[in-house]
Amino acid sequence: MTQFTHTTKSRERWSTQLGLILAMAANAVGLGNFLRFPVQCANHGGGAFLIPYFIAVILLGLPLMWIEWGIGRFGGKYGHGTTPGMFHYLWRHPIAKYIGAIGIAVPFLLVIYYNYIVSWTLAYSVFSFTGKYAGLTSFEGMSEFLAAYQGKVSNAHFPTIATAFLFFLLTHGIMMWVVSHGVTRGIERLVRIALPLIIVFGVILVVRVLFIGTPNPAHPENNIANGFGFLWNPNFSVLKDSKVWLAATGQVFFTLSVGVGAIQTYASYLKPKDDVVLSSIATCATNEFCEVILGASIAIPVTFAFFGLAQTRLIAAGGAFDLGFFAMPIIFQQMFLGQFFGAIWFFLLFLAGISSTVAMVQPVMAFLQEEFRMTRKSASWVVSVMVLFFSFPVIFFLKHGFLNELDFWVGTFGLVVFAIIEVLIFLWVFGERRAWKEINSGSEIHIPRVVIRIIKYVTLAYLVVLLVFWFAQDGISFLLMKNVPREDFPYVWFARFMMLAVSALMIFLVHLAWQRKRRIRQRMPD
Ligand code: PHE
Repeated sequence: MTQFTHTTKSRERWSTQLGLILAMAANAVGLGNFLRFPVQCANHGGGAFLIPYFIAVILLGLPLMWIEWGIGRFGGKYGHGTTPGMFHYLWRHPIAKYIGAIGIAVPFLLVIYYNYIVSWTLAYSVFSFTGKYAGLTSFEGMSEFLAAYQGKVSNAHFPTIATAFLFFLLTHGIMMWVVSHGVTRGIERLVRIALPLIIVFGVILVVRVLFIGTPNPAHPENNIANGFGFLWNPNFSVLKDSKVWLAATGQVFFTLSVGVGAIQTYASYLKPKDDVVLSSIATCATNEFCEVILGASIAIPVTFAFFGLAQTRLIAAGGAFDLGFFAMPIIFQQMFLGQFFGAIWFFLLFLAGISSTVAMVQPVMAFLQEEFRMTRKSASWVVSVMVLFFSFPVIFFLKHGFLNELDFWVGTFGLVVFAIIEVLIFLWVFGERRAWKEINSGSEIHIPRVVIRIIKYVTLAYLVVLLVFWFAQDGISFLLMKNVPREDFPYVWFARFMMLAVSALMIFLVHLAWQRKRRIRQRMPD
């Protein structure tokens, strides 16, 4: 056990309780809150969407938070910041560590596409500030601007993908620079600035939006009050549609960052007696504030006020990118001080995004440092090159649906699969009683035993039913590439191959790490 005792002592810890909560909240608050949520809500029944949404927060989101914080802090005690080591201690079976490899593969696959999107927000913040897209006031104009930026077409603004690539490298560099400074000096420092700024910028934008009034007097019905009405007036009939329930649950997973592996790693930097129960609730609450209050009050209502009902429906149906990168820049151009507000909007997205990507990249960092005894510096270099390498297809094959494919299997489906595994390992194998004690230890308020029992059965059943429905409704058509044009088939296959290759790589690394440990143990028995 010498090696573990040694690691436990030398492991980093969050420096304060506040720093910890800020880090966890900044992990959760991301593009999902400001772009994905409003679009999901607008497309799935407005106010009525909140019913399945909050049911999922209560039945899945919060319980999974408790479980992941519990697993993470538990693993930290043994010197393990990633799920291979954590599962190994929860379930003394040789296969456990390999299953845990999912908890490094998923966040790794997430970061390779998420970070590219984050780099667009940084670029657009600069474009907004410098007036690069000034004069492009039509939907077509802005959509071509983005397409050229992404290298899908070529025009006078962006003859090649070079600008996008440079912003990507810059964002990548910032992300790696932060994690290379470690948990307290890197991540904690970033979030201490980023999260308060996100909230301040968010509030400024909400206030600005509230005072928009009726931008076009010729269309008095297009006003901000009706914009909020569009978002919030419930259409209860949608609750009969299983798609709405799936969408709401998918959103809850994504926005809370559960089912990934990222929370477990952050939680491993807790002290053994740090509170888990209340801190998870505080994290959830902060995320929901940034999602339901701030996120929902910016983009959709203002789009409605400027574009009206029919057009807003179309934009929302087009997805989060249409809303964020086409509609919003046009709107800012028609606003007093629009350049400034536009820059704030995109910079807010950038801060929310970058403080999520560092959480996605930290598991693989921790894995290399702890299981292979790499120094933080060498781990940063290795991770940096790995992430870059796998990001290239996402960047260059964007127009062939590469990102979409990853987002469905990893960012939607994968999270639910991993969540099921966690519940099984923690509550069924490790055991309900021990799990309950583990979560409650050090906590000021205690979760009653019955809640754990409910999670053990109801949450699990909910997850399984969800997965089955998902697979039947979307999974099969994704699998058979129903909505993919024929010429893109090879790219989609390539995306699948890459996901499998990354998973296989992580499993192999786990294997190597354990072999290495066995050798060390044989050399110095204790
Ligand atoms: N929760 C983040 C968002 O809302 C995304 C994320 C997923 C971050 C998984 C970390 C891990 O955008």
